[in-house]
Amino acid sequence: MSQLPTPALVVEARTLEANLSTMAAALPGDRLRPHVKAHKCTALAARQAAHGHRHFTCATIREMEGMARVGLGDDLLLANEVLDATRLGALARDGGRVTVAVDSDATIDAAARGRVPEVLIDVNVGLPRCGCAPEEAGRLADRARAAGLVVRGVMGYEGHIVGLEDRATREEMLEVSMAELMKAAETVGGEAISAGGTGTYDLNTWATEIQAGSYALMDTAYAKLGLPFAHALSVLSTVISVSPDWVVADCGLKALGMDHGNPGVAGADVWFCSDEHLTLAPHEPMRVGDRIRVLPAHIDPTVAYHEHLHLVEGDEVVERWDVDLRGW
Ligand SMILES: Cc1ncc(COP(=O)(O)O)c(C=O)c1O
Repeated sequence: MSQLPTPALVVEARTLEANLSTMAAALPGDRLRPHVKAHKCTALAARQAAHGHRHFTCATIREMEGMARVGLGDDLLLANEVLDATRLGALARDGGRVTVAVDSDATIDAAARGRVPEVLIDVNVGLPRCGCAPEEAGRLADRARAAGLVVRGVMGYEGHIVGLEDRATREEMLEVSMAELMKAAETVGGEAISAGGTGTYDLNTWATEIQAGSYALMDTAYAKLGLPFAHALSVLSTVISVSPDWVVADCGLKALGMDHGNPGVAGADVWFCSDEHLTLAPHEPMRVGDRIRVLPAHIDPTVAYHEHLHLVEGDEVVERWDVDLRGW
């Protein structure tokens, strides 16, 4: 690891394996539809498949295409709305199972035009993002069927709940959200109820499949929830300047997703990040050239800034995986 140019993403192989095993024991096989947006890496997705999960969730068309390209296209869900579905239709014609989320007449028409065979009706369960009103879901399902699409069921991502630190609050709010989703599911029909994330993986008993992704690598925001998943990923960084009261490492905003706040560094107080710099006050003296492990607050955007994940055991880099699902 001492040879790696920094900043570099390093993944503790054993911790990753433990996270994958813990999740596979809790949600075996198709009970989990791992979301690849968190790691954007087909090599890591292959490890998830080796743990029994063959159906995946994606956020972008590129992720869908990349997964199919490496033979992980048994059943891919684009859990997101698109208005040009031609690339998705082409994927389906190549033999993979392709499903797209729809929440409007326009996205249904796009799926039909692009010849995507299957859809999920995306329902708003409280997160002000995509998803139709629950009472609209039945009409949209009818419209999709009339357009020749197979409606597999509903999706309702409770993104406003997954990150709440208090488990009881997560539980209470989830009940309200899932009641809305189940109401919609009755009018939509189909088998699938796709929902959930890392913060609700063991609470969401309504969903037939859970779309968790962050659990594999983890971040400091999710670490506050007391889940049985540990930090597998850190950003290896080098101390490039030392002043009497602080030090500076070469890992700034362009190497870290910052929307969930500052990263964490063991044995130091993080002051702030700028473009290429992380300023921190170490509890013990540090020298120029020292290497530190920086724990991101939000895993998804952090990984998307980097080209590789370096799998490590102790100080040894045992494998280098491409972050090959980046882009659009
Ligand atoms: C649609 C959707 N489903 C599921 C997730 C779950 O991800 P996580 O494991 O980070 O909670 C996300 C995360 O952003 C998402 O956007």
